[in-house]
Amino acid sequence: MTTQAITSAPTILTGLRVNSEFTLGNFLGALLPMVRLANTYNSKSQINIFVPDLHSIISDIDGELQQNLIRSLKYYLAAGLEVNPNVHFYRQSHVPAHSELCWILNCIASMGDLNRMTQYKDKSEGKESVNVGIFDYPVLMAADILLYDAVYVPVGEDQFQHIELTRRLAEKFNRKFGEIFTLPATPKAQAEFMHVDEGIRIRDLQNPEKKMSKSTAAENSKIMLSDDPTAVKKKIMSATTDSVGKIQYDMFNQPGISNLLQIEALVNDMPLQDVISTWAGETHYGDLKQKVAESVATMLETFQAKYREIDDSTVLGFFEEGEKYANEVANTKLHQVQKAFYLR
Ligand code: TYM
Repeated sequence: MTTQAITSAPTILTGLRVNSEFTLGNFLGALLPMVRLANTYNSKSQINIFVPDLHSIISDIDGELQQNLIRSLKYYLAAGLEVNPNVHFYRQSHVPAHSELCWILNCIASMGDLNRMTQYKDKSEGKESVNVGIFDYPVLMAADILLYDAVYVPVGEDQFQHIELTRRLAEKFNRKFGEIFTLPATPKAQAEFMHVDEGIRIRDLQNPEKKMSKSTAAENSKIMLSDDPTAVKKKIMSATTDSVGKIQYDMFNQPGISNLLQIEALVNDMPLQDVISTWAGETHYGDLKQKVAESVATMLETFQAKYREIDDSTVLGFFEEGEKYANEVANTKLHQVQKAFYLR
């Protein structure tokens, strides 16, 4: 990473796909950390929030995509994002430099590297035919980040491997063509910047060995942002725990209890260690569940009430404004890259 970018307020950037509604995992792993960082740094840093709609089309989509785009931006606002001139919203497909840089990076990325990506392995496992978009997904993600010299990229732990890949691609490029790209911070530094000990991975409530995912069919396994808060309480009360009988943070032996402690910390914006200390020595899992259920339900009530106040036209205006900024910044970087490749 160039010292320049670090000393002069680094850009903070993230994107969440909008194929369906967001889970509590998306919210606590990426959206809420982004909102908190944006509100802290928006007087100095550029805050880029974009919708990776080209990433969405790796799986089946329908006409709801347009409505989902609008809804996702409303989510940031409902979560408390403060809008100011340093905060930019844009749709990836409305900034063609993303696809163009993706193609150029494809020409330096290696098949071996992409083959090792866990997300690709998970999404292709057992399938007879897999589209190339699923394979190339991390390269487009690298383009999303490198076009804006973004240093901090709030994402959940499952995306850290893609951040590492982005760093490797940028290093390879810079070695050959000079210091054109700023490297995003290492996953460890990303976690520190988000004030978490390690990457965030919210677990499936029924099967806490797995991450909470939109694609899990069982409704009790996941919390969606539009869920009725009373129903959410029931889901948390029925979360799978263990037979150890002690409330302690041990993701390996007690993933269900550890997940609840993690959720409690993130929802209340408290250090995980403080929540762990509060519950140390306690043995009644029901008490912890009740507390977490209250915390999540209260947060969702406030969030859903704010969401209902935001209208579509406000959001569309933000996108149009942000896309002017994004095209300007992205094209400047793209032209530097094209020159390096003798395309200009
Ligand atoms: P997507 O839509 O698959 O996930 C959106 C974000 O939610 C996080 N996440 C979780 N975090 C914690 N616990 C969970 N159970 C959980 N489930 C999902 C993901 O880590 C992610 O941060 N590839 C990105 C989208 C993207 C992007 C980018 C992000 C495309 N280009 C450039 C940053 C920068 C993704 O995973 O989206």
